[in-house]
Amino acid sequence: MSMEEMVLNVFRKMEPEDFRVLTAIELGMVSHEYTPFEDVLRYSSLPEGEVRYRISRLNGFKLLRTISKPFEGYALNYYSYDFLALNALVKAGKLEALGKPVGIGKEADVFDGLTPDGKRVIVKFHRVGRISFRQTRRIRRYVARHISWLYQSRIAAEREYEALKTLVKVSAKTPRPIAQNRHVIVMSYFSGVELIDVAYIDEPTLLLKDIVNEVRKIYLETGLIHGDLSEYNIVVKEDGDFLIIDWPQFVRRSEPEFEFYLRRDLRNLLNFFRKKFGLKISLSDVINYVTGASERLDV
Ligand SMILES: Nc1ncnc2c1ncn2[C@@H]1O[C@H](COP(=O)(O)OP(=O)(O)OP(=O)(O)O)[C@@H](O)[C@H]1O
Ligand SMILES: [Mg+2]
Repeated sequence: MSMEEMVLNVFRKMEPEDFRVLTAIELGMVSHEYTPFEDVLRYSSLPEGEVRYRISRLNGFKLLRTISKPFEGYALNYYSYDFLALNALVKAGKLEALGKPVGIGKEADVFDGLTPDGKRVIVKFHRVGRISFRQTRRIRRYVARHISWLYQSRIAAEREYEALKTLVKVSAKTPRPIAQNRHVIVMSYFSGVELIDVAYIDEPTLLLKDIVNEVRKIYLETGLIHGDLSEYNIVVKEDGDFLIIDWPQFVRRSEPEFEFYLRRDLRNLLNFFRKKFGLKISLSDVINYVTGASERLDV
């Protein structure tokens, strides 16, 4: 079942006790990969019969992962984690409805949505470690096994939300943060297409200059750089206005890898404009301009 179908068919059937049991399982997952049944019972403060009933309902909705050996245990899956976040956002009055997918990718699922006052928004579900879950686990075997997709996805959302809050303060051309819960972010909607998919650009030099100016302004006013800047993370409108999106991997000036990522971000940008529009601009000139070492960029 797709996320849309899950929301349409299952989310609306969820009752407060179902959420209570999911929350109890989530709480146990802080220290276990699977929460033992006794802990579900204890954390939910519901009678045993009720918890059994809720677990079988949730199982029927395909919202749980289960083990029976070496103990009876339950874990959330992506859908139940999504439901917990959506329920919290709805209760907080930040979100009214989830709409169609805008982008389904490796590390995030992005939907449009509506707020209670009828504003169109973007709802981004972070999904870190979805593709190579097994591989991630192998690589990360030195950390506790339960620190998997759930924790990593929440950290990614928290980081992106933190970046957006910093960026909005300097009126950067980035989405406006509206709310965050668990691994989910609600942000302002921008109607445009990814730079990679733009069919025709009137004045590519002008657009490149505008983007470089924005990267410079963000760097000089916040000390942040994007860390994964490319033609996939810039959304462009027909009138040439644009937004730089997708910020969980931002890098601070104070971090040791800062120069590496600054260089890589700007090289990605210049490579795209060179290959697609034949613009040849020196990377070191752009780096000097963005960092404020020079005041002008002649292109
Ligand atoms: N605020 C927004 N307004 C309009 N469209 C957006 C917005 N945020 C994201 N999108 C669309 O959703 C796509 C994916 O978003 P984003 O880049 O933030 O996620 P991602 O982590 O790159 O996910 P993926 O793993 O799919 O690459 C974007 O390329 C863009 O088309
Ligand atoms: Mg992206």
